[in-house]
Amino acid sequence: MIKTEITEMFGVKYPIICGAMMWLCKPPLCAAISNAGAIGDITADKPFMVSVTILPSVRITAEHYKMYLRVCAEEQVAGVEISGAPIDKACGMEYIEMLKKAGVKMFHKVGSVRHAIHAERVGYDGIYAAGIEEGGHPLNDDVSTMVLTPRIVEELNLPVVTVGGISNGRTMAAAMMLGAQGVMMATRFMATRECNVHDNIKNKLISSQENDTTLICKSIGLQARALKNKNVSAVLDVEAKGGGLEAIIPLITGARIAEAWETGDVDMAPMMVGQSVGLIHNTITCKEVVEGMMKEAEEQIAVVSGKF
Ligand SMILES: Cc1cc2nc3c(=O)[nH]c(=O)nc-3n(C[C@H](O)[C@H](O)[C@H](O)COP(=O)(O)O)c2cc1C
Repeated sequence: MIKTEITEMFGVKYPIICGAMMWLCKPPLCAAISNAGAIGDITADKPFMVSVTILPSVRITAEHYKMYLRVCAEEQVAGVEISGAPIDKACGMEYIEMLKKAGVKMFHKVGSVRHAIHAERVGYDGIYAAGIEEGGHPLNDDVSTMVLTPRIVEELNLPVVTVGGISNGRTMAAAMMLGAQGVMMATRFMATRECNVHDNIKNKLISSQENDTTLICKSIGLQARALKNKNVSAVLDVEAKGGGLEAIIPLITGARIAEAWETGDVDMAPMMVGQSVGLIHNTITCKEVVEGMMKEAEEQIAVVSGKF
């Protein structure tokens, strides 16, 4: 049994955490992951995380973020996964103090050592080290998971969780060797029975390889990794022609993505998945994902240990 600072901090069986997924981290998926012994993202009767993505938005204001964090504190959720701007900058130091007082563990998702150092300095409890392989919005420093995790471990005194490129026991074992106390995955949890996304999308993930994703929106400072499809080609065309935010936004709206997940149209929206997609070969239950992964990680660690 692998015990780490993460299993101890949250009182869970496995150091595996589900990453934020806009529209997809709904209660059934969250509950399935938490009930499997890992940490789901939103609601269950076992510890779970709430994710708050603080990126530039036309709809969501600082007041919304403050409200989300107040509710997290009031409800004493196990932890919050913050990405984008840190809590102190987006809402003020008093929100960090409020969450601390309520016992809510604060983790920031970062792509660089400098952002991790800031999070430690203002009082976060842990770091999600997200390399360029990750789905969603990897930082435009473009540092790989392989280097980012040990660099942050080297510089900080907080538990570090590896994000990006993780989807099975081998990759989890590798993250532990890099000094991680746990792993976070999102794409792997999309291809599960409990994830509420159309079967066409799950089948697309299973048939995709590690080189089927690409980076988009670098030119507008909102870098994202997505599966190559007609929509992504259109976005890259606009960028190549020097089109700005206004020309790109209609192609990447949240509404478009929600519709794609529901209808199963694999070409209408950016599907922001990670390179880990190349390692996903089936749609199984969250319990099978988590337990299979732990078994494989322990086996791989034993194999390596036996060699020395
Ligand atoms: C479909 C999808 C939607 C995502 N949406 C968000 C989001 O809203 N906020 C966020 O911080 N990260 C988001 N991410 C990034 C994940 O939380 C996580 O950092 C990343 O996907 C990890 O890499 P992996 O998918 O290879 O495991 C999303 C990822 C996926 C696959």
